[in-house]
Amino acid sequence: MRVLVACEYSATVRDAFRARGFDAWSCDILPTECDPQWHIQGDCLAVLHQGWDLLIAHPPCTDLAVSGARHFAAKIADGRQQRALDFVQALLDAPIPSIALENPVSVISSKIRKPDQTIQPWQFGHGETKATCLWLKKPAKAEADKHCRWPRTACASDAARAKPLERAQPHVPRYCRRNGRPVGRILDRI
Ligand SMILES: C[S@@+](CC[C@H](N)C(=O)[O-])C[C@H]1O[C@@H](n2cnc3c(N)ncnc32)[C@H](O)[C@@H]1O
Repeated sequence: MRVLVACEYSATVRDAFRARGFDAWSCDILPTECDPQWHIQGDCLAVLHQGWDLLIAHPPCTDLAVSGARHFAAKIADGRQQRALDFVQALLDAPIPSIALENPVSVISSKIRKPDQTIQPWQFGHGETKATCLWLKKPAKAEADKHCRWPRTACASDAARAKPLERAQPHVPRYCRRNGRPVGRILDRI
């Protein structure tokens, strides 16, 4: 299965796919920080037609994320936001059977379409809270790690903060993990 990870220089997602046996390639206008053997340095729009089975895309959010809304007027006026939206639309329209495009909460929702799924890092074993939106074509929704289903505050090491949540949700994991290592002890049962 051929996987294109567009707008990625870190090779994080690419190498996760490669480790699982996929023929995965990263593509970014920047050089990769990792093995360049499977990195395409250049405009990802130019390689979308090369017979990929799955596209994972991380387009820049600088001109789209609502966290920067105070700059929207200038970005709309000079066309930056529309160019960013056109780039996203081109990725979503790629002739690839399965697509997952990731961005924070952004104007993609109002200007193109609402995301198909919104996930949180803490659902996948990381301690952070950051709403991450996915626009999907075909792939099943991202499945949260079943050991990591807890509200953010349940990651607190402060048992007093965790208690009310644990009462509401008694079967929560003992630890919140970050980079695979446990952080912030929480009680698994009360
Ligand atoms: C939000 S960053 C994503 C970084 C990614 N998560 C990683 O781990 O490398 C967006 C990336 O899109 C890249 N980019 C912007 N326009 C591009 C294009 N036309 N083709 C390929 N990459 C592009 C930028 O260089 C930047 O690295």
